[in-house]
Amino acid sequence: MLAIEKLNQFYGESHTLWDLDLEVPAGQCTCVMGRNGVGKTTLLKAVMGEVAVKSGALRYSSGDAGEIELTQKAVEERSRLGIGYVPQGRQIFPLLTVEDNLRTGLAARQDGVKKIPERVYELFPVLKEMKNRRGGDLSGGQQQQLAIGRALVIEPKLLILDEPGEGIQPNIVSQIGQVIRQLINEDGLTVLLVEQKLPFARKYADRFVIMDRGRPVANGDIGELSDELIQQHLTV
Ligand SMILES: Nc1ncnc2c1ncn2[C@@H]1O[C@H](COP(=O)(O)OP(=O)(O)OP(=O)(O)O)[C@@H](O)[C@H]1O
Ligand SMILES: [Mg+2]
Repeated sequence: MLAIEKLNQFYGESHTLWDLDLEVPAGQCTCVMGRNGVGKTTLLKAVMGEVAVKSGALRYSSGDAGEIELTQKAVEERSRLGIGYVPQGRQIFPLLTVEDNLRTGLAARQDGVKKIPERVYELFPVLKEMKNRRGGDLSGGQQQQLAIGRALVIEPKLLILDEPGEGIQPNIVSQIGQVIRQLINEDGLTVLLVEQKLPFARKYADRFVIMDRGRPVANGDIGELSDELIQQHLTV
């Protein structure tokens, strides 16, 4: 689905991603893990085009269009190619209603459809119940559901989420995990996720990648995520 090859990224002089290789197989949930500041968000932003990369390739194949190299494509174009993005910290519009927040996502649709897909409300009924409420008046967990809903209105093929469980009550975290599985199993999506919560990764991801100082240091099926790896790379 997405093959990241020898990606190098700098913030000014600071080399953040180092010759980073990563495979995101279609129809699975790949979970990127790693301590604070190792470059997880930077990696996702590089995939979305929100930070420029110095070198490397992002080979994206969505089935119908064949393989496309993303590094030279604008952010909007990447959305139009079917990549949905839920940024760390949610970044919803607090003064807009829930419905208008969802509508802002529609601008990125390739087909010009102006209607919020019913599937979004089916997956997150709370967004329908609260569609006239202001985004800023929702709880943290509901705002996260809104941010995911907004990424889903383009009916993406690849969904990218940055720490969806951060600072959210456990029952909503597991609802989000279940939605991720539904999207994969019922809608055929591919998911690339950053998540530091181990139980979440173990329950909902198929594969893991551990990053340390801007490069992947371990990867495998989620069942292979050993206590030793956790001790070595994830505990502080
Ligand atoms: N806009 C920026 N300008 C300069 N340096 C940055 C910028 N954004 C992030 N960094 C630095 O790049 C490194 C990687 O940051 P990044 O946000 O990708 O880490 P992360 O793994 O997502 O961390 P966290 O777990 O805290 O979300 C850090 O050292 C951070 O301070
Ligand atoms: Mg981050």
